[in-house]
Amino acid sequence: MRILLLVHSFNSLTQALFVALRAAGHTVSVELDIADSVAAEAVALFRPDLILAPFLKRAIGAAIWRRYLCLVVHPGVAGDRGPSSLDRAILDGEAQWGVTVLQADAEMDAGPVWGEARFPMRAASKSSLYRKEVCAAALLAVAQALERLVAGAGPLTAQPARAPLRPLLRQPERRIDWQADSTALVLAKLRSADGVPGVLDSLFGQPCYLSDAHAATPASLALVGGAAGDVVARRDDAVLRRTVDGGVWIGHARRAAAAGQAGPAPFKLALAHCFAADFRALPELAVPTRRASAEWAALRYWEDGGAGFLSFDFHNGAMSTEQCQRLAQAVREARLRPIRVLVLLGGEDFFSNGIHLNRIEASESPADESWRNINAMNDLALDILSATDQLTVSALRGNAGAGGAFLALAADLVWACEPVLLNPHYKNMGNLYGSEYWTYSLPRRVGAEAARALMQNRLPWSAGAALAAGLVDALLPAGLAALEQRAIALARDPAFAARLAEKRARRARDEAHKPLQSYRDEELARMHRNFYGFDPSYHVARFHFVHKMPHAWTPRHLAVHRNPVLKAPPTTYE
Ligand code: COA
Repeated sequence: MRILLLVHSFNSLTQALFVALRAAGHTVSVELDIADSVAAEAVALFRPDLILAPFLKRAIGAAIWRRYLCLVVHPGVAGDRGPSSLDRAILDGEAQWGVTVLQADAEMDAGPVWGEARFPMRAASKSSLYRKEVCAAALLAVAQALERLVAGAGPLTAQPARAPLRPLLRQPERRIDWQADSTALVLAKLRSADGVPGVLDSLFGQPCYLSDAHAATPASLALVGGAAGDVVARRDDAVLRRTVDGGVWIGHARRAAAAGQAGPAPFKLALAHCFAADFRALPELAVPTRRASAEWAALRYWEDGGAGFLSFDFHNGAMSTEQCQRLAQAVREARLRPIRVLVLLGGEDFFSNGIHLNRIEASESPADESWRNINAMNDLALDILSATDQLTVSALRGNAGAGGAFLALAADLVWACEPVLLNPHYKNMGNLYGSEYWTYSLPRRVGAEAARALMQNRLPWSAGAALAAGLVDALLPAGLAALEQRAIALARDPAFAARLAEKRARRARDEAHKPLQSYRDEELARMHRNFYGFDPSYHVARFHFVHKMPHAWTPRHLAVHRNPVLKAPPTTYE
């Protein structure tokens, strides 16, 4: 089939469908929803058999849905209607939720149902549920819809019950009453609004939108005083705020724009940077990296069966200079432990998305901060590349993008827990050249020609496609259990000593052929031009990304109907 993805942005769900539909043999093109006339033009150019809308912020124009079959992916169960489905499911404490594939017609979310899949809810943020459970259910529901379409079977339910449309969830409904709301309710409110729009509240007397919340343990709370609503301590880049029956760690906030404020709107930052002076004045409640899992902090390390496991749960996978430095220190400490295998786990939601674009945007000199950040990423990658006393593994439990994907390749082995997506390329960020020793680690895995194509084509990869191409070495089921088992088996493998010897010999050969420092110098020379040169593309792209500016056009590598050369988006090796 010729399938046009009509979307607000090429987000994770759209990317997952894009790779799955192409793998199933469909011809897929993408059009970003910019204006009705532009969408109509795309449809006329592509002549799709089906228009699929996995992520739209407004209704499809009648001129399109009257002439073409349009299926909308709705993150709610059949009968649910409205723009805040997942937010409401979290707030209402639903035990089970789902995804419905509906035919677009005159009424929002009320057309015939072509597919539906359900999932048990998890205590997690809206974005985490969206990227994991919603994404997996959407793939199933869309597959079901396509099967019916191909078989000429018609919709599952032609005339579904029309429940009343539930309106957009607004801030007054999300408001936290610190003097009355339990920790569970505070967490539900914050999670239902995370990442967008956050919960409007205030910190240090300043109005702001809060996000990135984690429950505090009784052990931590026993060390601090304070009454409900008080901000009592800091850890990493987050603050601890008391509730009536406990407390929550809050990691990020976006300041509310002042009335009549000129210039760009404020954007989300870690609390350590959003309220730097107030933050520093708080007492620090640090914890060791080796600790029980319930105690929240960004870094955690544990050992089992000869393997060391290091998780780094940085919000949105973005890694600032200081976060890279803290992680590098933890890697160096782990390398001194009597372990045979070191597993880098990233975070649950993202492995890593590279340098911290928001932090860079907020700094006094974005060029200088970009430079510091990429050097800190490189130092971290070097600590992994030069670990010759252990086998190292990057275990991707969440998606990895740009420098984060290449950080993963610094390890000897890369394991991907299905169904993660990889975006192993930099160019989308204003033609960034990239570093993290990718010019060493990528070609040695896939070959020089494939490496060049992969960087050029800027497409997302499913874990399965990445395995076939040699970008990753193994696919694992989601969850820690399988991962831990495999790492322990690797540590106990009778061939371990031979593998380690082979790794050392290879590293020595590679170093003699071309030192890692040369790769770094060459990459950084290009990055220096990106940051400090005459072409401002990277700074412009970063500004657009951080400020979530609406798209003005669809990139031609996705909108093949607008690309005179491409008949379909390139496969990775074209
Ligand atoms: N720095 C700061 N924030 C980042 C980030 C980065 N490197 N990468 C992602 N984020 C944030 C987004 O702003 C968004 O924030 P939100 O909580 O306000 O929604 C959140 O992470 C999720 O990103 P989103 O783009 O919505 O996720 P996605 O799954 O649809 O797309 C990527 C994933 C990786 C393709 C996309 O986020 C991206 O291109 N990131 C930039 C990567 C990059 O260029 N890094 C710098 C070069 S190394």
